[in-house]
Amino acid sequence: MAKLDVNTPQPIQLKDYTPPAFLIDKVDLTFDLDEDHSRVSSRLVLHRNPDHPDARAPLTLDGKELTLESVKLDGEILDGSRYQTDAESLTIAAMPDNAILEIVTVIHPETNTSLNGLYRSGGNFYTQCEAEGFRKITYYLDRPDVMARFTTTIVADKNKWPVLLSNGNRVGEGTLDRNRHWVKWVDPFKKPAYLFALVGGKLSRLADRYTTSSGREVALEIWVEPADLDKCDHAMASLKKSMLWDEQRFGLEYDLDTYMIVAVGDFNMGAMENKGLNIFNTKYVLARSDTATDVDFDGIEAVIAHEYFHNWTGNRVTCRDWFQLSLKEGLTVFRDQEFSADMGSAPVQRIEAVRTLRTHQFAEDAGPMAHPIRPESYIEINNFYTVTVYEKGAEVVRMYQTLLGRDGFRRGMDLYFKRHDGQAVTCDDFRAAMADANDYDLNQFARWYSQAGTPTLSVRGQYDAAAASYTLTVSQTCPATPGQGEKLPMHIPLALGLLGPDGADLPLQLAGEQEALAGTRVLSVQEASQSFTFINVPVAPVPSLLRNFSAPVKLDFPYSRAQLALQMAHDSDAFCRWEAGQTMMLQDLQTLIEAARAGGELGLKDDFVSAMRQVLADDALDPALVALMLTLPAETYLADQQSEIDPDAIRAAREAMKLGLARALRSEFKAVYSRLQDQGAYRFDAQSVARRSLKNVALSYLAELDEPAMLELAEQQFARADNMTDSQAALTGLVNWAEGDAALAGFAAKWAEEALVMDKWFTLQAISRRLGTVAKVKALMQHPAFALTNPNKVRALVGAFLHSNLAGFHAADGSGYEFAADTILAVDKLNPQMAARLAGCFNRWKKLEPGRRAGMRSALERVAAHAGLSRDVYEIVSKNLQ
Ligand code: PHE
Ligand code: ZN
Repeated sequence: MAKLDVNTPQPIQLKDYTPPAFLIDKVDLTFDLDEDHSRVSSRLVLHRNPDHPDARAPLTLDGKELTLESVKLDGEILDGSRYQTDAESLTIAAMPDNAILEIVTVIHPETNTSLNGLYRSGGNFYTQCEAEGFRKITYYLDRPDVMARFTTTIVADKNKWPVLLSNGNRVGEGTLDRNRHWVKWVDPFKKPAYLFALVGGKLSRLADRYTTSSGREVALEIWVEPADLDKCDHAMASLKKSMLWDEQRFGLEYDLDTYMIVAVGDFNMGAMENKGLNIFNTKYVLARSDTATDVDFDGIEAVIAHEYFHNWTGNRVTCRDWFQLSLKEGLTVFRDQEFSADMGSAPVQRIEAVRTLRTHQFAEDAGPMAHPIRPESYIEINNFYTVTVYEKGAEVVRMYQTLLGRDGFRRGMDLYFKRHDGQAVTCDDFRAAMADANDYDLNQFARWYSQAGTPTLSVRGQYDAAAASYTLTVSQTCPATPGQGEKLPMHIPLALGLLGPDGADLPLQLAGEQEALAGTRVLSVQEASQSFTFINVPVAPVPSLLRNFSAPVKLDFPYSRAQLALQMAHDSDAFCRWEAGQTMMLQDLQTLIEAARAGGELGLKDDFVSAMRQVLADDALDPALVALMLTLPAETYLADQQSEIDPDAIRAAREAMKLGLARALRSEFKAVYSRLQDQGAYRFDAQSVARRSLKNVALSYLAELDEPAMLELAEQQFARADNMTDSQAALTGLVNWAEGDAALAGFAAKWAEEALVMDKWFTLQAISRRLGTVAKVKALMQHPAFALTNPNKVRALVGAFLHSNLAGFHAADGSGYEFAADTILAVDKLNPQMAARLAGCFNRWKKLEPGRRAGMRSALERVAAHAGLSRDVYEIVSKNLQ
């Protein structure tokens, strides 16, 4: 286990925040780009910050992995006695209150495999500065509360790097000697350094235009490698939809003359909202119907919207410090979710968001990395771009809207921008705007920002026939999380309805109210335990609770099987309808898991099968909703419901349920498949996507049956598909059988040149129950299309295996753990951020059965003891071992 010594990375605390000693008004940057080094000249106009407690504080600039060439203060070259440097900073003790500082540094993008700062990909130059990458470019006050006006001049070889981009507007260009050229950019908006961007290379552009509602003409440009120019149309259409939506929903317009998106194949995350120059992972830009699935098309629409929406929620109003990350991320995810709901099917989008939250965020909240959406401390900020900060953060923003209503939420947003445009602020400022704009007390609500863990709402109902009243008693608890033993009650919006015996909504009237209202209403739960009494309730109702998933909590209500079946068939709230099915499914899976552990029979219950049959037969239901209702929870989600995880029993149970349903509903699935099979040419719209999703769910069940005729269906679909959705679905069904080998080989041969399609090929095998073994994954790492330096490849193969193949990763001989440790250490040398993501595969270790627990512990200890571990991986493994 890692010992505490002087080299042990120390946590940074929210409570230690102090304003910067200096502020920067203006930055002029000149980049001289070349093959074996690049030179960065920076000219900073600074002044002392009157808000800093010490009026004689030194100036300490952040800087990492920089070769310093010269420092000039107010025109005078400083010799080494006038400043100090160490591995992470440059300090000038004697500073005037106003100064011009000129610094020249040399950096090495050509060997930068961290993909942080300035780096190379496919011969081109790209930057990534959030959170703390700018300090790898030049010495600077690399913190979001220092906002400056940037001017950027880029000089490079004309043939090798013909396109030179940065933030803002292009104001000049010219040629120089030695076949070099320059381009100058000016960004009129103040911004923190994390929003800086530069791109240089051989790129082609898809151009379009957009006119904002106030008449501003905006040039839209998507820059990609020339071979990808035919895959940008969907991204462009998504961008225009996003721009219009933000005007209509929030009154927010774009503010520059140009909006540029650049796609790069080597990227740590999904995309980055740099001012006027977004840089995207190719995965979230490039799509053609034959190369990208419906899920990819949806993802692109959402991420394009997300980055565009950041221009207001993130850039115009930014974060004071990185503890406030959810201020921009939670809010922007909420905005992109609302956008997606408006573009497609709102209930389907909502259910998918809930699935992501439960599968990934609930797990995080229950493990060693649990943290509130505003963390109190971190060792490495890159480890806090989490599902908690993003997805739970979005749920917290959604709860404002649920409590205040859409109009109230809009009033809060308007006030937020009115107060804080151009500022770097905190989550409390956002909450204050919501409270003040609506004259609503949100003091207790603040606990959502400081308490980690998933609360449980326990609800009990009591019907009083004589009084015709129904009383719901609601109690809340929240489990202890690392560093937080005791929790206080949260302010929880509980949306609900009451169903009559026919499944229809009953009118709702709380004791003391004059009239009844139909449909859904929102209760404000604030006490540890409290009761709500409904009056004039003619019959004992079935409560439809947590409608539309009104809060990120676990619900505990003792539903009977018949009540669940009623909700599945009739609940007017699509989320609750789906949820009732999931509850029944989880109950039965739990029974199967216990049977598998005891070596018993793995049969299905009749009421479950007939409820599922009824769902399949319901023509009035959106096919996408039917597909979701038939989708089994992930193995990892099932694991999180266990007190002690037995991966083999979980797999056996899940497969028994799938096969059991396939056998019992064979003819229904066949009928659905035939009815939806022929859809004509591919179209990406909500209806077509819904039909394809149900068809492919039916196929996935049929392919479980060990019958040649069923595999032939998959083979035919694979051979005939004109789109990647159908092609991938067919291949997924086939890979579980020996017949899949030929299809996999054909797929690889066809798509060898398409990096994003090859990612799918790697993932399919990594998560397949037949092929997903340590040996196979290791062999695939030798495939020419694989690269340990490329995050998409590592995620597609290694990440998918470690995070999504429960039984494969947890092979009883411990080989998965040894493989994980070796790979984490190898990736850590190249890209610490990626390595730390992989290391998350150990987060459940304490819940495994004893044999595996011991294996995971020794692998973790081996990683922790490794000399030269990055801060990123150190934080994950040390918190696991605490
Ligand atoms: N801020 C980016 C987003 O959510 C994510 C990101 C973080 C990208 C850090 C790169 C590095 O839109
Ligand atoms: Zn974001």
